[in-house]
Amino acid sequence: MPLFKMIRFFSFITCIVITAGSVSDNGIVNVKEGDNFSLIVGTSELKFVNRVTVRKRNGTQEVFRYCSREEQNRGCKPFNSDRTTLYIGNEAVCVTFLDANTRDEGVYDVEVIDDKSIRICRNFTVALTG
Ligand SMILES: *[C@@H]1O[C@H](CO)[C@@H](O)[C@H](O)[C@H]1NC(C)=O
Ligand SMILES: *[C@@H]1O[C@H](CO)[C@@H](O)[C@H](O)[C@H]1NC(C)=O
Ligand SMILES: *[C@@H]1O[C@H](CO)[C@@H](O)[C@H](O)[C@H]1NC(C)=O
Repeated sequence: MPLFKMIRFFSFITCIVITAGSVSDNGIVNVKEGDNFSLIVGTSELKFVNRVTVRKRNGTQEVFRYCSREEQNRGCKPFNSDRTTLYIGNEAVCVTFLDANTRDEGVYDVEVIDDKSIRICRNFTVALTG
């Protein structure tokens, strides 16, 4: 397995172990109602995760925001709901939503920014399965 694929594979496994739910790193998330699901963004090219923002494309509303302590000192305000948890690993960032419901369906944009303002953006389409 090429190294890049292997790293993605391990990120994928890490998220599965942590969340035990539906996981996607290819942009499509099919989740059963009531299950947990995770959005994974590979971050091996970043040294330090400074900010993670998740927007839902229904008016580009932010549904989650993580700010490192440095970012908070610069005025970034974390935003979270009790249904969302964040895991920051060496190779990936993993945003997990608990207890999926029909209102979670839609397109999400996840943006990860490091301390040098390098950003990685990924989109995910979440759909409920029967
Ligand atoms: C979703 O995650 C929570 C917290 O990790 C866990 O308690 C719960 O059992 C999970 N739900 C399912 C359906 O796996
Ligand atoms: C967009 O989605 C979020 C999260 O599901 C929800 O809280 C919000 O009400 C939605 N906004 C609109 C305009 O539909
Ligand atoms: C998601 O991003 C990919 C590549 O970055 C792009 O080709 C695709 O059109 C995007 N999908 C949506 C629903 O925006």
